[in-house]
Amino acid sequence: MRGLKDKVAIVAGGSPGGIGGATAVRLAEEGMAVVVADLNESAAQKLAAEIRANGGEAVGQGFDISNEESYAGLIDFTVRTYGTLDGLYNVAADLSPATMNADVEVTDVPLDIWHHTIDVTLTGYMLGIRHALPVMLRQGSGSIVNTMSSSVWVAPPTKVSYQAAKSGLVGLTRHTASLGGKRGVRCNLISPGLTLTTSAMATTTEELRTQGLSAARSPRLGKPEDIAAMVAFLFSGDAEFINGQSFLIDGGAHLT
Ligand SMILES: NC(=O)c1ccc[n+]([C@@H]2O[C@H](COP(=O)([O-])OP(=O)(O)OC[C@H]3O[C@@H](n4cnc5c(N)ncnc54)[C@H](O)[C@@H]3O)[C@@H](O)[C@H]2O)c1
Repeated sequence: MRGLKDKVAIVAGGSPGGIGGATAVRLAEEGMAVVVADLNESAAQKLAAEIRANGGEAVGQGFDISNEESYAGLIDFTVRTYGTLDGLYNVAADLSPATMNADVEVTDVPLDIWHHTIDVTLTGYMLGIRHALPVMLRQGSGSIVNTMSSSVWVAPPTKVSYQAAKSGLVGLTRHTASLGGKRGVRCNLISPGLTLTTSAMATTTEELRTQGLSAARSPRLGKPEDIAAMVAFLFSGDAEFINGQSFLIDGGAHLT
C-alpha cells in the first residue's frame, strides 16, 4: 500500500495468534518499523524476533495500556528509537475467560470487573492517543486506529462492561478525528466480527462459531489477517481522505 515504507507504527496489544500480532506482521511486510507492545512482554518480543527473522524491522516491548506512565514511556521509547511515530493501533483487551465470564449483566457485574474493563479498553486507548497525538501533530501527519467490536452492534444482554467500554471508543475516535484532521492526523474505528484468534477460540464454543458462520454473508469466519489488512489500509496514504469513520469487518454478518 502507498506510503507505508520506512514509516513507524506501534501495535498496542500485539502477541502471536491475535489480531495485533497479525497486524504487526502485515505492517512490517509493508515496510514499516513496528514496535510490538503487550502486557505479555515475552510474547511481544517473540513476535518481534519472528518479524526480524523474516527480514522486517520490529522491536518488542512490555507495557500496561491502563497505566499512563507505561503508555507514555512506550511512545517516548518509539520516538527515541525510530525518530517518529506515524501509526498507532490500539487493539489490547483483556479477553481472558476469568474476566469475560465475570462480565455479566448490569445488575450483577462486579465493580472491579467494570473498572478493569473500562481501564484497559477505553481509558487505555485514550492514554495512547493523549501521548501520541502531540508527536503526530508536530510532524503534521499520522493515523490512529481503535478497535471496537461487532458485538456492540448486536447488544447481547451480557458483557455490559465490554460493551460500554467499546461503545465509548465511538466518541473518543470522533473527537480525535475532529481535533487532528485539519493538521493531518486521522483517527478511525474498526469493529471485527468473530475472528479466529487464539483468545476467541478459547472463549467461544463450537456452537457459537457455527452460529457466527451461518450469520456471515461469507463462506468463512474472520481471520486475524483480515483485520490486519484494514489497519494497513487506514495507516496508508491510500486512506488519507478517510477520517472519523467506523468500519465493520465481519464478512457481512451484521447487515441491518
Ligand atoms: N477475536 C475476535 O473475535 C474479536 C471480535 C471483536 C473484537 N475483537 C477485539 O479485537 C482486539 C484483539 O482481539 P484478539 O482476539 O486478537 O485478542 P488477544 O487476546 O489475542 O489480544 C489482546 C492482547 O491485549 C493484551 N493485553 C491485555 N491486557 C493488556 C494491558 N493491560 N496492557 C497491554 N496489553 C494488554 C493481551 O496480552 C493480548 O495480547 C480486542 O480489542 C478485542 O476486543 C476481537
